[in-house]
Amino acid sequence: MRAMVCEELGDPSVLKIVEQPVPRPGPGEVLVRIRAAGLNFPDVLTVAGGYQHKPELPFVPGIEASGEIEAIGDGVTDWKIGDHVIAGKRPGCFAEYATFAVSQIGMRLPVGWSFAEGAAFQVAARTAYHALVHRGQLKKGETLLVHGATGGVGLAAVQLGVHLGARVIATGGSDEKLAIVRDQGAEATINYTTTDFVPVVKELTGGRGVDVVFDPVGGDILEKSVRAAAFGGRLLVIGFTSGSPTALRSNHILIKCLSVIGVRAGEAGKYDKSIPEDYARQFPRLAALGVMRPHVSHRLPLERAADAMRLLLDRKVVGKAVLEM
Ligand SMILES: NC(=O)c1ccc[n+]([C@@H]2O[C@H](COP(=O)([O-])OP(=O)(O)OC[C@H]3O[C@@H](n4cnc5c(N)ncnc54)[C@H](OP(=O)(O)O)[C@@H]3O)[C@@H](O)[C@H]2O)c1
Repeated sequence: MRAMVCEELGDPSVLKIVEQPVPRPGPGEVLVRIRAAGLNFPDVLTVAGGYQHKPELPFVPGIEASGEIEAIGDGVTDWKIGDHVIAGKRPGCFAEYATFAVSQIGMRLPVGWSFAEGAAFQVAARTAYHALVHRGQLKKGETLLVHGATGGVGLAAVQLGVHLGARVIATGGSDEKLAIVRDQGAEATINYTTTDFVPVVKELTGGRGVDVVFDPVGGDILEKSVRAAAFGGRLLVIGFTSGSPTALRSNHILIKCLSVIGVRAGEAGKYDKSIPEDYARQFPRLAALGVMRPHVSHRLPLERAADAMRLLLDRKVVGKAVLEM
């Protein structure tokens, strides 16, 4: 089988296609013929050596995929050969085949969804859901400000926020990309590269500010969000695509009674098993309703994984980019 391999850390050009033997599923595992793998910003960071998870070299990047079960290991009873599934492992998905422990299979591919959509669902959906529901406790009627709303986790947060009955204001870096975010249900969008979003948010909320901020961008965007938040607002810290985390001033947090809430959608499940159980219960239901159905702006063949990563770095993707095998 062909696999995209990272043998040394660096920019996306370090990736190479390598022929490898098809793995065999061990006890409690299945072998999936991967048909598509979703790109995530953490893939770029992992290949560069700048992510919190540091796999041993050489490794196959990619943390989410969809495909067809082709073989089953001893003791697997819930899945059968031929099932179409969405699965994730950390890492190993940028390949034609991978084995997954049963616990790494997220769900069946929803009826009517392409493999590309399935491969683009899980990471963004978990991040948006864990952030807005478990951590942020977003309520119907509240106002939600989503930054980086043109990206994978940002667009999922817009879609879920709308579904939960929030009023969603979204920011992003291009008017063209933000038009798609409005199509996904955002009530208002602001281009933060041309406009200071704080006065616009204040005007849209009658001077009050927003109840919840979802921030995958960091840098000055989170810093300014302190001013865009309502008294008692919740700031959800998701990531730092801007390249820098934010040093927030504790006096500002005190004065506005803000809650600054860290979000680690994957890691949290290791400490609280009810979190993955909730994903397993809710996601088939939400997907059947079309909630968080991915918008896939780019589909590239496996051998163009480096180009797909550059598209993310160059901010060309809207929603998700996917590799197809
Ligand atoms: N906490 C968690 O559990 C968790 C889980 C998954 C991902 N994450 C984090 O969430 C963030 C987003 O991940 P993603 O996979 O959704 O990424 P993505 O699809 O690339 O989206 C990120 C968005 O950030 C914006 N952005 C602003 N400044 C940027 C810059 N200098 N370079 C690139 N993009 C920039 C871009 O929108 P504009 O061009 O419109 O500004 C882009 O659409 C990452 O930091 C990732 O590590 C966190």
